[in-house]
Amino acid sequence: MAFERHPAWLDHAVFYEIYPQSFRDTNADGIGDFRGIIEKLDYIRDLGCNALWLNPCFASPFRDAGYDVSDYYTAAPRYGTNQDLACLFEEAHRRGFHVFLDLVPGHTSTDHPWFEASCRGTPNEFTDRYVWTDSVWEGLEGSRSLHGISERAGSVIVNFFSHQPALNYGFYRVEKPWQQPMDAPGPRATVKEMKRVMAFWLGLGCDGFRVDMAGSLVKNDPEQRGTIALWQGIRRWLDEAFPQAALVSEWGCPDRSLEAGFHMDFLLHFGPSHYNDLFRCEEPFFSARGKGSAAEFMAHYLLYREKAGAGGLIAFPSGNHDMERLARRLSPEEIRLAFAFLLTMPGVPFIYYGDEIGMRYVENLLSVEGGSERTGARSPMQWSDAANAGFSAAPPEKLYIPLDPDPGRPTAAAQQADPDSLWHTVQALLRLRRAHPALDNTGDFVLLQAEGYPLVYRRQAGEEAVTVVVNPADRPCRVAVSGRLLHTVGRGAARDGDVLAVEGCTVALVQA
Ligand code: GLC
Ligand code: CA
Repeated sequence: MAFERHPAWLDHAVFYEIYPQSFRDTNADGIGDFRGIIEKLDYIRDLGCNALWLNPCFASPFRDAGYDVSDYYTAAPRYGTNQDLACLFEEAHRRGFHVFLDLVPGHTSTDHPWFEASCRGTPNEFTDRYVWTDSVWEGLEGSRSLHGISERAGSVIVNFFSHQPALNYGFYRVEKPWQQPMDAPGPRATVKEMKRVMAFWLGLGCDGFRVDMAGSLVKNDPEQRGTIALWQGIRRWLDEAFPQAALVSEWGCPDRSLEAGFHMDFLLHFGPSHYNDLFRCEEPFFSARGKGSAAEFMAHYLLYREKAGAGGLIAFPSGNHDMERLARRLSPEEIRLAFAFLLTMPGVPFIYYGDEIGMRYVENLLSVEGGSERTGARSPMQWSDAANAGFSAAPPEKLYIPLDPDPGRPTAAAQQADPDSLWHTVQALLRLRRAHPALDNTGDFVLLQAEGYPLVYRRQAGEEAVTVVVNPADRPCRVAVSGRLLHTVGRGAARDGDVLAVEGCTVALVQA
């Protein structure tokens, strides 16, 4: 089955991901908050984004930065109240934004009351809410579990960290007596509850969800056929109940997730997409050394596009809270070219807060809230030269994560004041994307060259075609392409008869 369309607003959506902890603190407790996000909405709009994704902001003991929910229906007090969050939705909508929350359907915190009830030896409503085996000595092959923690004669499967027990969506292939089929009452109750959670926040004004570990719900499901069917059911319900709501999956396999009914799926640092080849490997394609390759990435991308059908979108993130920042492997000049690519590809772009100013990955930090090596990509946003880079009025030692200590760290204020900055490069690219339907989310895509350098593709909509020549290597190239030079990022390009002469470290756009 294929879902044919997505809500129309996704045709032009450009997302900005906010890690709320680190964005802007308005009450000097060292932690970002909803009011801080509201304060910065104009900044995000001026950059050219029109949609937000907030990392989890629900009640949680924060042992995994909020991906360990203890109450799905209540905002984490450290960010504000449900009312404050509703106010954020309202202020965002007033400025033309759509807002995604982060839904964590696969697991809860061990502190969740459902889990506490599920641990009890006497049967109750939540006995089958989680995936339990029937002996403390037995686990599930390929998964980790918690043993000896309850009155029950069983161990419980965990999804990620050991404090994140797996909610029970059933087993695709049932092989043991304790494994429940997907249509057993326990799994069905879990699905019903997750729909209630979604309806609750959609009712309060959010516009959809980024879905955490979306491909992991059903167990013993190697081809993910069970999980795909489960999401198809949720999508059918959503189309009926909230037709304007949208979902993006953390799955990293658009050939499966889009079939499952997600409107979009991310290309990620894990999974088969080869996204890392471009920005995050030994020899990234976007390095000026010019030793990388975009060929495998493009081969996968073409396959995903074919499977996506008319409705499915592929989401290109500049980074996220789980991966190292672009600036860890790429120079400021290279990052500009990476953005010129990310913002001229079809699908839905996602900009991770701070990437628009080239924020760095902060090395050698102690792990904060389960961040481990991810912590360096979650440091406070650098707004200005004020104390704590304008992030917070708290004493520096109280900040959620220490700031990038580099005296030359980039700031939003300095870059907004400098017309040659990365910030302005991103803004100009987003304006161009908006002004040219060929470059927008649903414009056509034709790959012209992916072997070696440059990478060349054509975007098309109606009468308009724009050819994009991506040449991050530090050596010039010549490409046979007719039309007028529309825009360049980097050193420059010039027409030489039928040929476009493109400098090294340059992305050139030609309009036909
Ligand atoms: C996803 C999140 C990550 C979290 C994990 C467990 O990968 O992006 O931050 O730790 O799921 O929920
Ligand atoms: Ca705060």
